[in-house]
Amino acid sequence: MSSQARNRIEVMHGVNLDQLVRRDPDHYGGMSLSELERRISDDAAALGLVTRFFQTNHEGDFVEHLHRLEGMADGLVLNPGSWTHYSYAIRDALELVGLPTVEVHLSNVDGREDWRRQSVIAELCIGRVQGKGADGYRDALMQLKEALRGQ
Ligand code: DQA
Repeated sequence: MSSQARNRIEVMHGVNLDQLVRRDPDHYGGMSLSELERRISDDAAALGLVTRFFQTNHEGDFVEHLHRLEGMADGLVLNPGSWTHYSYAIRDALELVGLPTVEVHLSNVDGREDWRRQSVIAELCIGRVQGKGADGYRDALMQLKEALRGQ
């Protein structure tokens, strides 16, 4: 049995999240992705977790990054952006990763357009946080910490 601490969290952002600072601040808070990642990394460190970050605008790259995670991470925080709502390719890749995952959205997706209410990954996730901006990631990290403790 490995004695390695189970504290490695992969934080993956999908399409258009590299443009966060240019998107509607009423939904997304006005911060840049690097500011958001710094905040997540600090929150994770305070919880004794170690984060690694990935962002792409290419669905196949997102899928292949999931394929490569075996042995590299203990838990996942996923904000796939609009892919959340329709990408069965990402859903299937996530299924084969088999890591505890929390789905996060900066905005309140359930309170926006109808098509944003659908998540094709939700059933594979241990939790879903939305509408809490950067704080939502801290909630996700706390959920993962709890899940990893229980393993
Ligand atoms: C988002 C919500 C999605 O509906 C949207 O397409 C995004 C960002 C969020 O973080 O609120 O790109 O995932």
